[in-house]
Amino acid sequence: MSQSNMFILMVGIPLILSQSTRGKDCVCELQNSDPAFPENKLKNVAFAASKCTGNITSEKMTEIDRLVLGLQHRIWQLLDNVSMLEKEDNGNLYAAVSLRIIELELAEIQDLLDKLKRTTNNYQLLSGQTAAELQVMEETMVELEKFDHTQVMVKQRENQRVKRDLERCKDVLNSTTPAPTLPPGMYKRLCGLGRMVNVSGPMTYSLTVYGTSYTFGAWGRDAKPAPGDENKYWLVVLSSGNVHGNFIRQYSSMSTLILGIGPTDTYISSSNPTTNTIQGPNMVMYGNALYYNCYNTYSVCRFNMTTRSVSTVALPNDAGYNSKFPFAHLGATYTYTDMDFATDESGVYVIYATTSNFGNVIISKVETSNPPVFNQTWSTSLHKKTVTNTFMVCGVLYATRYLDKEIEEIFYSYDTNTNEERYDLRIHIKKMQTNIKYMNYNPRDHLLYVYSDAYIVTYETMFQEVH
Ligand SMILES: *[C@@H]1O[C@H](CO)[C@@H](O)[C@H](O)[C@H]1NC(C)=O
Ligand SMILES: *[C@@H]1O[C@H](CO)[C@@H](O)[C@H](O)[C@H]1NC(C)=O
Ligand SMILES: *[C@@H]1O[C@H](CO)[C@@H](O)[C@H](O)[C@H]1NC(C)=O
Ligand SMILES: *[C@@H]1O[C@H](CO)[C@@H](O)[C@H](O)[C@H]1NC(C)=O
Ligand SMILES: *[C@@H]1O[C@H](CO)[C@@H](O)[C@H](O)[C@H]1NC(C)=O
Ligand SMILES: *[C@@H]1O[C@H](CO)[C@@H](O)[C@H](O)[C@H]1NC(C)=O
Repeated sequence: MSQSNMFILMVGIPLILSQSTRGKDCVCELQNSDPAFPENKLKNVAFAASKCTGNITSEKMTEIDRLVLGLQHRIWQLLDNVSMLEKEDNGNLYAAVSLRIIELELAEIQDLLDKLKRTTNNYQLLSGQTAAELQVMEETMVELEKFDHTQVMVKQRENQRVKRDLERCKDVLNSTTPAPTLPPGMYKRLCGLGRMVNVSGPMTYSLTVYGTSYTFGAWGRDAKPAPGDENKYWLVVLSSGNVHGNFIRQYSSMSTLILGIGPTDTYISSSNPTTNTIQGPNMVMYGNALYYNCYNTYSVCRFNMTTRSVSTVALPNDAGYNSKFPFAHLGATYTYTDMDFATDESGVYVIYATTSNFGNVIISKVETSNPPVFNQTWSTSLHKKTVTNTFMVCGVLYATRYLDKEIEEIFYSYDTNTNEERYDLRIHIKKMQTNIKYMNYNPRDHLLYVYSDAYIVTYETMFQEVH
């Protein structure tokens, strides 16, 4: 893997653009602010694992054959996984998830070794030595996990984006008139992503620490974090009957979230459910506050994480709640999904349906003022119960439907900038579990954060440049 890829372009897009027009120059500053991934250590683990295997296979088959074979199998598997890790993403990206799997495998191998040790004294020496090796391997893996792999990933994506903008900047310099790809204005600059054309295969995939019985939940990163909170991730599982939640769990990074290390819990209320507890999974975190459908009402609640206080704003009184207009498909209804919250480059939206709009989707922008208010609203012709989830990118609503157990399809879009509605999108999302219960786009990393039957998954969105 190329360690030079860890360089980070520290220049923001606006800076490049302003310099290009004034100084007729494209400037960027390179700064290597992250330690390189300690690839050697991973190799050492692989090497140690192969040595262990060699020693074990050379032993005569005895009454503990079965255990040794099991052990050998696990070690080969570990080797496979390590070499796969090295190949991943041209060797540049070591997914935290895979590391977690390897960690689990090491734990199982350790377990087998312990059994082996107990079984016979004859192999005391071998298992003793091997156990010592494995101890070292385990320690190395723990060390490797300290690297926040997502950060590496995010920075590489930032790199690509800045590089792309640098290219555009050059184009601008070469042309006599300003390039049509760079219209003025803050909004357009943020949303110069173009049209969404595809979604990557899953980037990360992991069970939460709560286990498989918590099938409704939400997670992600604050789309507009408070200073110092940029790397934090949040997770809410609906713990009461898969319907209600009363606290927000936060982790310092993606790795600690996946590994379940060092969470901080912030409680909205001590009992569950009660006034202002979370109802349904489709909430978002924005500006260090959680926006959600509050218990048993047609109101939007905002929980301020700093003050731990709730402010509410009511939707029209014919807006669906308590499973009146939930997300659904022919085979299933996702209970208490009447309100879906979304974040994009311009802020927070709530997606819901009303009786007066015949159960069709309505989009309302939530102004994040204090108290929050609704300002602009768009009515669509999209029937809410035919949709499994929605998210927003650059003021465009995208809706998904269930195709089969493996595939969810982004089939619909509504552009709030032009009021254009389309039903002909065919963007497929490869699912890891049958049902997607939560989906939201994060404008900071352009990832879709998905909660799918107790598993948390991310996907990368892909855009086609507008020319
Ligand atoms: C690890 O290897 C085994 C087979 O050797 C494979 O089934 C499994 O999917 C691999 N896990 C990862 C994370 O690559
Ligand atoms: C494998 O066997 C060699 C030679 O007996 C020994 O030096 C080495 O420490 C053993 N390795 C492990 C991991 O047991
Ligand atoms: C800019 O124009 C010069 C001269 O025509 C050309 O050599 C160069 O490749 C152009 N650069 C870009 C980025 O298009
Ligand atoms: C969309 O992305 C998936 C996953 O990377 C890929 O397999 C597929 O070919 C892409 N589809 C199109 C139309 O580009
Ligand atoms: C949360 O409360 C703090 C302290 O009063 C305030 O500064 C902040 O703006 C509030 N956040 C939101 C989203 O209202
Ligand atoms: C309502 O939306 C308009 C158009 O985006 C905006 O100019 C105005 O500031 C918004 N009003 C409030 C109270 O946020």
